[in-house]
Amino acid sequence: MFDKSVYVRRRKTLVAKMAESAAEGKRGIALFVGNAEAPAQYKDNCYKFRQDSTWLYFFGIDEPLFAAVIDLDNGDEEIFADDVEIGDIIWMGPQPSVASKAALAGVEKSSPYGALDNVVSKALAAGRPVHFVTPSRYYNTMKIASLLKCNDAEVAGKFSLALTKAIISMRLVKEDCEIEQLDDASALGHEMHTVARNNIVLGRVEQEIVGRMEAVTLAKGWGVSFPTILTQHGETLHNHLHDKVIESGRLMVIDAGAENNMHYASDFTRTYPVNGKFTTKQRDIYQIVCDCNELAFKLTRPGITYREVHLKTMHLMLEELRALDIVRGNLNNMVEAGVAGLFMPHGLGHGMGLDVHDCEAIGERSFDFSEIAEQAAKSGTCIQRSTWRIEPGTVMTDEPGIYFIPALIDKCRAEGKYKGIVDYEALDAYRDFGGIRIEDDILVTESGSRIIGDRKIPVTVEELEGLKSLF
Ligand code: GLY
Repeated sequence: MFDKSVYVRRRKTLVAKMAESAAEGKRGIALFVGNAEAPAQYKDNCYKFRQDSTWLYFFGIDEPLFAAVIDLDNGDEEIFADDVEIGDIIWMGPQPSVASKAALAGVEKSSPYGALDNVVSKALAAGRPVHFVTPSRYYNTMKIASLLKCNDAEVAGKFSLALTKAIISMRLVKEDCEIEQLDDASALGHEMHTVARNNIVLGRVEQEIVGRMEAVTLAKGWGVSFPTILTQHGETLHNHLHDKVIESGRLMVIDAGAENNMHYASDFTRTYPVNGKFTTKQRDIYQIVCDCNELAFKLTRPGITYREVHLKTMHLMLEELRALDIVRGNLNNMVEAGVAGLFMPHGLGHGMGLDVHDCEAIGERSFDFSEIAEQAAKSGTCIQRSTWRIEPGTVMTDEPGIYFIPALIDKCRAEGKYKGIVDYEALDAYRDFGGIRIEDDILVTESGSRIIGDRKIPVTVEELEGLKSLF
C-alpha cells in the first residue's frame, strides 16, 4: 500500500469534486464495493484474487470482501469487512484486524460486512442519493442489487455519472507515487520482452516462449497485466492462441505486459522477423508502423487533443502506404474517408494505470459523453477517444499497427468501399503477410512526453537486425 496520506488525500479530493457537481439538495453517499474471491472449481479453490481498481485507488486494501461508504455531506468514512474467526485462522493463519487494515488506509471507523446493508438502507429511506460506479464483476453487481433492493439487471442503469466522472478525472492524472509504480511495471515488462525475444527459435512452439516470458512477472510482480498476445498471426488483433510452431519467414507479434505487486500495469508490443532479418516487404511495412509510433510520441504533449495525434498519425500511415502503391489519392480525403481503418482497425492507444485499459471498466469509453460530444466530431477513423484531455500526468499507450486481414479486405472490396483509393489487386500480395504492431507506454509531462521506464525495448529495423541475442 501507499502511505495512508495518499488515500486520505484522494478521498478528500473526491468529496470536494462531488460537492462541486452536486445539484441542490443532498449529496448522499458514495458506495465502494471491493471484489470477492471467484471460485475456479469449488468455493475454496479460487482464481488468483485481483482487487477492484477503484477500490485500490481510494482504499488500497488488497483483500476480498471489503466495502466502504463515504458520506458526501459530512465526509464521514466507514469500512465494512469481517474479522477472521477460528475457522479462518485454521486455514489462513492469524490475520490483522479489519480496524488495523482500515487504519492503514486512514479510515478510523470499521464495521462488519453485514452492517453495510443498514447504512445503505438508511440512506435510501432518507431519500439520499447512493452513488456507485459500474461494477466490473458479477458478484459486485449482485451485492449492489441486494443493497439497493433492485434486480441485477437494474444496477447498470443506476450508476452515478457524477461519481464516475469525478473518479476518472482523478485516476487519469497520475501522481508521482503512481508514476514510480508504472516505471517499476515497465521494468518488468521490458524484462519480459527481452526474455521473449531471446527465445524466438525456429521450430519452437509459441507457448514455450509465453511460459518463459510470463515467468518473469510471476517471479517479481503480480503477473501479466492482460492475457498475453504472442503470435505469428498478428493480423488477428488479440490472438491468444499460442499453439503454432515458429516457422521460417513469419513475423511474430508479442503484445504483453506486467502488473506489479501494487497492481500498476505495463503494456508493450514488438514485432520480430522470426529469422532475424526482415524481407523487403516486411521491412517496408514495419518502417511505416515504426514511423507512426515515433510521430505519435513526438506529437503527444499537453494541450494537443488525442484526436489530433490520431489523425496526424493516420495521415502519415496513409502517405507511406501510398508510396508503396497500396492506396492512392488525396491524403486528407483518405483520412476523412476512414481508409486507415482498413489497415488499423483499432485505436492508436488507451489510458494505462491500475488497469491496463485504465478506467474502461467503469466506463471511460462508454458512458454518456453527450455534453462534450461536439468534440467527438464525425471522423472516418476508428475508435477515437476525442474526449480525452492530454495533460501532464496522462499515461497512454502509443500503439499503431498495420494488419492485412483477409476477411476485412474481402468485405470492403465486395462492398465497393474505398473504390479508387485502395488498390485491392496490390493487396492480394499481402494476404498471408500477417500484422505488425509496435507499442510503448507514454507519460505526458509539463513540456512534452517521455516513455515510461528508463529504457526503450529495441525497436528500429537496425536495432532488431543487429541484436546478437536474437536467433
Ligand atoms: N495490449 C493489449 C490491449 O491493448 O488490449
